[in-house]
Amino acid sequence: MNGLPISPFIASLPKVELHIHIEGTLRPALRWKLAQRNNIPIRFRDTEYKTYEELLASYSVIYNHRPELGGRKDVPTFLEAYFAGCEVLVTEDDFYDLAMDYFARCQEMRVRYVEPFFDIQAHTRRGIPAEAVLNGYLRAQHDGAAKYGVRSSWIFCFLRDEPVEDGEAAYKAVLPWAKGNGGHGLFHAVGLASNAYERPPSLFKAAFMRAKADGLHITTHCDFGQKDTHEHIRQAIFDIGIERIDHGLDVLDRDELVAGLVEKSIGLTLCPHAYHRRTATDVLFPKLRQLLDRGVQFCINSDDPVYMSDVWIDGNMEKAYHYGNLSKTEMIQLVRNAIDMCWADADIKTSIYVELDALDVE
Ligand code: HPA
Ligand code: ZN
Repeated sequence: MNGLPISPFIASLPKVELHIHIEGTLRPALRWKLAQRNNIPIRFRDTEYKTYEELLASYSVIYNHRPELGGRKDVPTFLEAYFAGCEVLVTEDDFYDLAMDYFARCQEMRVRYVEPFFDIQAHTRRGIPAEAVLNGYLRAQHDGAAKYGVRSSWIFCFLRDEPVEDGEAAYKAVLPWAKGNGGHGLFHAVGLASNAYERPPSLFKAAFMRAKADGLHITTHCDFGQKDTHEHIRQAIFDIGIERIDHGLDVLDRDELVAGLVEKSIGLTLCPHAYHRRTATDVLFPKLRQLLDRGVQFCINSDDPVYMSDVWIDGNMEKAYHYGNLSKTEMIQLVRNAIDMCWADADIKTSIYVELDALDVE
């Protein structure tokens, strides 16, 4: 399922990544190095990985089940694996190294611009100061552009399964690192991540409105196949006035939601491989064509590549191209959609359009 080789065509495309969690890019080699550096054991529930080989083997598990929706309870969930990975991140340099490692990977895949999500609460609740996280990312934002040619503007995420007040307090703490109003310019948007089960976007409506009033963009996860997914999408479009939806693929089940997206020009940041982990090929991939046919704007992204079988944006695009039977012209249009949908400054957008237009595709 994940072994599609990246074709020269997909490799050649300049790319824009709009749905990736920076903590979901922590590769095992760096995780191991940081564990040694900080003298932190790598644990997962009752298991400690004592060798690098044991750690590597742990990544072969496919974390695709949802215990709250009737799935297995005896194996760790994706989010447990993701937050366990965070434990080795302690100092400003750790966060810097994480982001620089990701930007190096971006350069290899021709990702020119990225809007990474970051979960400040995943770190502050472990006692890590917010400044360590944010100054590490800020330095990497600068150095990633200079060293790897990867420009970025980041997205603060509320952890939706934590109390709303905690998220609001976290937002206040990070605001000096926002773009505009004399801030440091690290992030320009807010989003909603973590477990969506019985945590609808409307709970965070006031927090979103505050961010909007502060001049930031707003987006929310509406996970595919989640309980109440249609209601979550409805709230995002009609109650909150969201600008983009992360996932949101269930929109196809409801005409009024499709109409809302089209009318309000709200795009979806899709991550096909994430859905493919629990959805049959012939159920999932025709949905991409249906979105195209119904005029819903979307782009292709990667979510949490390290915890999703090491499938990155190029692998996700390859899946869309191959299993979705999309043409080269349609794949190029999806890159154009990502440039259209991103919130980068005009000069960045223009430079990627120019590179895309100059592609020599037969
Ligand atoms: N879904 C929801 N929240 C997340 C994810 C995800 O895949 N990754 C990090 N936070
Ligand atoms: Zn996500």
